[in-house]
Amino acid sequence: MRLIEPQIPQLMSLTRKLKLSTTCINNLFSINQNKGRKFRYTASLSISSSAAETDMVKAIRVHELGGHEVLKWEDVPIGEPKDGEVRVKNKAIGLNFIDIYYRKGVYKAATMPFTPGMEAAGVVVAVGPGLTGRKVGDLVAYAGNPMGSYAEEQILPADRVVPVPSSIDPAVAASVMLKGMTAQFLVRRCFKVEPGHTILVHAAAGGVGSLLCQWANALGATVIGTVSTTEKAAQARDDGCHHTILYKEEDVVTRVKEITSGKGVEVVYDSVGKDTFEGSLACLKTRGYLVSFGQSSGSPDPLPLSALAPKSLFLTRPSLFNYTITRDELLEAAGEVFANVASGVLKVRVNHTYPLSEAAQAQADLENRKTSGSVVLIPDGA
Ligand SMILES: NC(=O)c1ccc[n+]([C@@H]2O[C@H](COP(=O)([O-])OP(=O)(O)OC[C@H]3O[C@@H](n4cnc5c(N)ncnc54)[C@H](OP(=O)(O)O)[C@@H]3O)[C@@H](O)[C@H]2O)c1
Repeated sequence: MRLIEPQIPQLMSLTRKLKLSTTCINNLFSINQNKGRKFRYTASLSISSSAAETDMVKAIRVHELGGHEVLKWEDVPIGEPKDGEVRVKNKAIGLNFIDIYYRKGVYKAATMPFTPGMEAAGVVVAVGPGLTGRKVGDLVAYAGNPMGSYAEEQILPADRVVPVPSSIDPAVAASVMLKGMTAQFLVRRCFKVEPGHTILVHAAAGGVGSLLCQWANALGATVIGTVSTTEKAAQARDDGCHHTILYKEEDVVTRVKEITSGKGVEVVYDSVGKDTFEGSLACLKTRGYLVSFGQSSGSPDPLPLSALAPKSLFLTRPSLFNYTITRDELLEAAGEVFANVASGVLKVRVNHTYPLSEAAQAQADLENRKTSGSVVLIPDGA
């Protein structure tokens, strides 16, 4: 008994809409055959074993690098979880600037085509054979590799997901996993912010920036934040910035010198890159730290090592993924973030919500500086 090839996608799409496992499909056939309607297939139809292992889900796919228009809404196959894996039905997906770098080719995706996205929260719908510690129904979140969160469902290594406390909404969890853990490693591990420090945070009203300012303020620092608009400045002040600078209109180095009475700051957290990098070095006090952790305006120009010498400066270019390598590191970082959300130290601003199918518009808005706080994508029916 065979199913002819063109009928498989229709069948899989129906299976997904009805939220049935493929193993239910033969039963579905018999029911509909008995009712004698809906399907034109005959009693001789069934599905091949390879098709039975492959469900289809909706996802955003990138087939060629480029602008936001290369993000396509497609059906993609998803298998069942293997040893050590879980299958997660996403309830909310976090949008991050890194997704734009991959879409444009600033960072190279491991495969082409690929599904973008590195942050989501969802419910475990299947676990791989022999897996303990995770079960169907668990609410989990993840950040980082493997890429592919812009999808209704995805397969993940169980050791890269963390449980989400029941007090935390999935949209909040999806907004705070990657961005919150970034803020955590920046202020707690990369450069340890302490009471009495004065720090400079660029893009202070952004997804990471909002959380970073709140966390640094809670640690007792004086926080200076740069933003592009007065609306974003108001948000940054609400997030604990003691001083805001409109960096499109004001000279950042002059303003920082004024605010610090000429001393400069202990650390600059610079995610803007090309447009701010040189000024960031000039804002530092002697033996200050430049933490260059992103390049939303483009990669900074090369810097001769000798440029650090006059003030004995430190320069680092860190990545969250190197600070959450082990399971223990991941659990500790996520645990601190969720604890700070639960206690109110971190107010998570889910300022923008888009249907998952409109990821292209969401990325365009993030890239064009139209957003503040976090942006989440919500799958249909999640
Ligand atoms: N190293 C790591 O592990 C790590 C982890 C997470 C994020 N990051 C980096 O952190 C940064 C923030 O990420 P996010 O997802 O939270 O994004 P975001 O801060 O919400 O968005 C980027 C912001 O950067 C500012 N910006 C300045 N110049 C820009 C330009 N030419 N084009 C676009 N934006 C510009 C804009 O704020 P204004 O309008 O106020 O200027 C914009 O809203 C990104 O650079 C990202 O790569 C790094």
